[in-house]
Amino acid sequence: MIKVFCNNVLKFSFYSRRIFHGEYEWQDPKSEDEIVNVVFIEKDGKKVNIRGKVGDNLLYLAHRYEIPMEGACEASLACTTCHVYVKSNHCDTLPPAEEKEEDLLDMAPFLKENSRLGCQIILSKELEGLEVELPKATRNFYVDGHTPKPH
Ligand code: FES
Repeated sequence: MIKVFCNNVLKFSFYSRRIFHGEYEWQDPKSEDEIVNVVFIEKDGKKVNIRGKVGDNLLYLAHRYEIPMEGACEASLACTTCHVYVKSNHCDTLPPAEEKEEDLLDMAPFLKENSRLGCQIILSKELEGLEVELPKATRNFYVDGHTPKPH
């Protein structure tokens, strides 16, 4: 917001609304251009098609649609409960995992070459058609028994 005062002094006032973890993912896409379709494959093999949008964090998008991706540390890179397998169609499209993500994945049960942490995946148009599979189990060494609820 820009305010102009009588003495011709421009004053700038910036404000931003506080966005809570996952709040953005609860907003529907504003246009077709924003849509990024994602397929979640649950532990029992059930495929769930979801219309995400550019900028969505995969973990919070999963929470919105009640996909059982835990996310115990709420995307603070302190657990592996958001572990997913990225299907081969998009393995090379994702930015490479940073060292902290790699270190955590080393502790994840059922680690595979295509393992990633879901909370580190931010949707872009290049990820259209992304398929991610949930592992058979995850290990929560962050806060035992803590399961965050969608906001
Ligand atoms: S939610 Fe803990 S690392 Fe992703």
